[in-house]
Amino acid sequence: MTARHGLFITLEGGEGAGKSTAAQGLKAAMEAEGQSVLLTREPGGTAGAEAIRTLLLGDVPLVPLAQTMLHFAARADHVERIIRPALDEGRVVICDRFYDSTMAYQAFGLGVPMESVAALIRLIDLRPDITFLLDLPEELARARVASRAGATDRYEAMGADFFARVIAGFHSIAAAQPGRFTHINAATTPEQIVAQMRAAIRARAGR
Ligand code: TMP
Repeated sequence: MTARHGLFITLEGGEGAGKSTAAQGLKAAMEAEGQSVLLTREPGGTAGAEAIRTLLLGDVPLVPLAQTMLHFAARADHVERIIRPALDEGRVVICDRFYDSTMAYQAFGLGVPMESVAALIRLIDLRPDITFLLDLPEELARARVASRAGATDRYEAMGADFFARVIAGFHSIAAAQPGRFTHINAATTPEQIVAQMRAAIRARAGR
């Protein structure tokens, strides 16, 4: 039997945009419609990728290119073991961050050449069908991150200039690929965020 291709949905945005809650809400809504949904995240999603996540979010010094290659090492394992097999079974895969985060954080944020990240994206060779960019005004994002309990990780510890570059990066990536990206107003309730995403998925299916 020929493999049926499922739907690959990714969620992107800065810190505190509510991606994880949105991803869970979207999964529940699509399952209620009878779809088989796999929810996963990056960096992570497999034992190897979660081990790399611990290294990436820890405080061991790593130059930006090393961080980039580690994000893609985690991604390669995740794509081959989890994402591609689920899509081949015709499932919906919702991934909390994917390669656009590397372009935004490591290229726009940390100055790794965009062409280096683009070369790694070509190696991975799996493009999301739909990418939601959760937009949140900077002050709101900062307030949400500040209210979170626990220690900050490598990226959360970066300064306001870095986050401004990351957000500008996401907007520039989205503007270059309007067919794949949908902007989501994240300055609202989780229910309304899920409703915006479902409307965009339905609109795409009806095209
Ligand atoms: P999160 O689980 O809070 O989204 O944490 C992941 C962190 O890693 C977040 O600060 C964004 C960062 N990140 C990158 O810098 N590059 C990447 O490619 C990915 C997937 C995440």
